[in-house]
Amino acid sequence: MYALLSGRSMILSAAFLLAFVLVLSNCNTSEKKVASGEELFQSYCAICHGTNGAGNGAMTEHLKLPPADLTKIAARRGGNFPDEQIYQIIDGRVPVAGHGTGDMPIWGQTLKESEQLKNEKQVRQSINNLVGYLKSIQQQ
Ligand code: HEC
Repeated sequence: MYALLSGRSMILSAAFLLAFVLVLSNCNTSEKKVASGEELFQSYCAICHGTNGAGNGAMTEHLKLPPADLTKIAARRGGNFPDEQIYQIIDGRVPVAGHGTGDMPIWGQTLKESEQLKNEKQVRQSINNLVGYLKSIQQQ
């Protein structure tokens, strides 16, 4: 009787443990952190814009238009860094006047899929992280 009970409680404990692990791993994915702007930049942007953002990435020779030098975003605009406009350019899901070559990918959708983002909030956060990173690498 005693042996039977402990056998059963062992199975029960195993089942609880399994359920616990499942719950934990589920929590993990739903609390997946959005990557930093620099991480996202190196993963998705450096191939064209260069690891330092200066526009000399490995893909450059295959593009119709050279990738913009992203350390000069503000310099090109009289010293102003337009957060909202840069956000829209990166997101790409809303067409931006004067930015229609098709060489610059539409990141809003790509990030959502590649980074397995759960919702629009995480997409916005990812793009905001990228905008913040770009802002931090501006040069005169
Ligand atoms: C396949 C190559 C390619 C990749 C990858 C790429 N870009 Fe671009 N990007 C371009 C090209 C080409 C331009 C300039 C042409 C244009 O205006 O469409 C550009 C322009 C831009 C501009 C506009 C700069 C300005 O001053 O107006 C921003 C901002 C930008 N890219 C950010 C990014 C970010 C952030 C990523 C990564 C999430 C990225 N790009 C990935 C090719 C790329």
